[in-house]
Amino acid sequence: MENVLENLGAAAGAASPLPLTPVSTVVVRPGRPLEGTVRVGGMTKNAGLKQMCAALLAPGTSVLRNMTPVGDLPEMVELFRRMGADVRQPEADVVEVDTTGEITPEAPYELVSRMRASVNVLGALLGRCGRARVAMPGGDNIGSRKLDMHFRGLESMGARIRVVHGYIEADTPGLVGARHVLDFPSVGATENLVLAAALADGTTVIENAAREPEIADLASTLNRMGAQVIGAGTSTIEVEGVEHLDPVETEIIPDRVEAGTLLMACGIAGGEIELEGARMEHLEMVVLKLGEMGLKVSPTATGLWARADGRLRAVDVATLPYPGFATDFMPMTVALLAVAEGTAIVTENLFDNRFMFVDELNRMGADVRTEGRHCVVRGVERLSGAPVRASDVRAGAALILAGLGAEGETRILHTQHVDRGYEDLPGKLAALGADVARTND
Ligand code: EPU
Repeated sequence: MENVLENLGAAAGAASPLPLTPVSTVVVRPGRPLEGTVRVGGMTKNAGLKQMCAALLAPGTSVLRNMTPVGDLPEMVELFRRMGADVRQPEADVVEVDTTGEITPEAPYELVSRMRASVNVLGALLGRCGRARVAMPGGDNIGSRKLDMHFRGLESMGARIRVVHGYIEADTPGLVGARHVLDFPSVGATENLVLAAALADGTTVIENAAREPEIADLASTLNRMGAQVIGAGTSTIEVEGVEHLDPVETEIIPDRVEAGTLLMACGIAGGEIELEGARMEHLEMVVLKLGEMGLKVSPTATGLWARADGRLRAVDVATLPYPGFATDFMPMTVALLAVAEGTAIVTENLFDNRFMFVDELNRMGADVRTEGRHCVVRGVERLSGAPVRASDVRAGAALILAGLGAEGETRILHTQHVDRGYEDLPGKLAALGADVARTND
């Protein structure tokens, strides 16, 4: 059977280096209001990759469906192959992970540095192998992204952790359940602790746990593997360790960030769209805010419907852990507010350096001033197309959306960052009638 992952550029050989992701450019020109229906993909980057880590806990073949092939997937696949797993992709959005063979609990720098989700192998490797050597992920374009909460949580369960020559070296004579209070509801730390606790001896209680739908999805997959995780999706998660887990066949939740991005695209370009597969219950806060701005959104039998009549109104926004307004929507929201009527204050509470895209937006004629964690966005009638550069996945998405509200041509360089988290954002916008295309020149 054809293995689609090879076509995505994942290196097949166990030790072969990954090719560098080619630089790509997207061109946006003014067009008509959006119209039509698109399907929202699975949340591969922030949910599916973590469930690949869950598969490490159960020797055998697990099957993950709705794994939309985004750019981070081949990198995770390569990491799994290096660790000794056999990974196949029999269909474009199906990933089979066979972890029957011996697993080498080592995640090298050249793979980990490029993908945040890879740090989730730490909890799973400690659970499966009792030890792990995982490169510290590098800095990110959105903030410092420390791992102290991951470490303290795993240490409370009996892991010994050191950082040596840029590598996290962890080992344990056997993980034991513990009660642990997180300083902050970190998504990654909650996931690592749940993964480690699944096979630990005794009961683990995680207080102040992250409540994102991705956590509930991970827990539901683990429970179908035989784990006993209670309370995922709330602030207190209890995990009763079990002796062993079985491989699973699971379907990843729809990508709420892609859905929100497309809703905001409708807010900027105007028009009427339907998003098949989008789930209102994962998007309540963003739909509430967009509603205050004047975008009409309602659930349909298969997803969400949205309509924008005319220019939206400015509304203040502050990002918070789920169910608050997600930080991953913030850059696109600033793009939307840049062409809304009035002035808004946007506060970023999760990451300390997520306003890097603002200078690019201002080069397009936006009036946005940043001050520490805040930015003041004074809406202008229309932006003006310019060459701009994407610095990370959501920053790039925001600039593509800004192009929809600009006169003339907007050229967004380095959109390979966007492709890390979206299957084909330009293609989906084009399917809704926008004048958005990839270019080689
Ligand atoms: N933090 C610490 N210490 C830790 C862990 C986190 O100080 O041990 C801090 C971080 O530096 C950050 C904040 O806590 O300031 C939140 O970090 P969190 O751990 O919740 O985030 P993450 O697990 O690293 C995931 C998503 C992000 C998303 C955040 C918040 C993945 C691969 N990434 O990151 O997604 O923004 O949760 O919801 O799941 C994106 O999709 O664009 C993206 C960045």
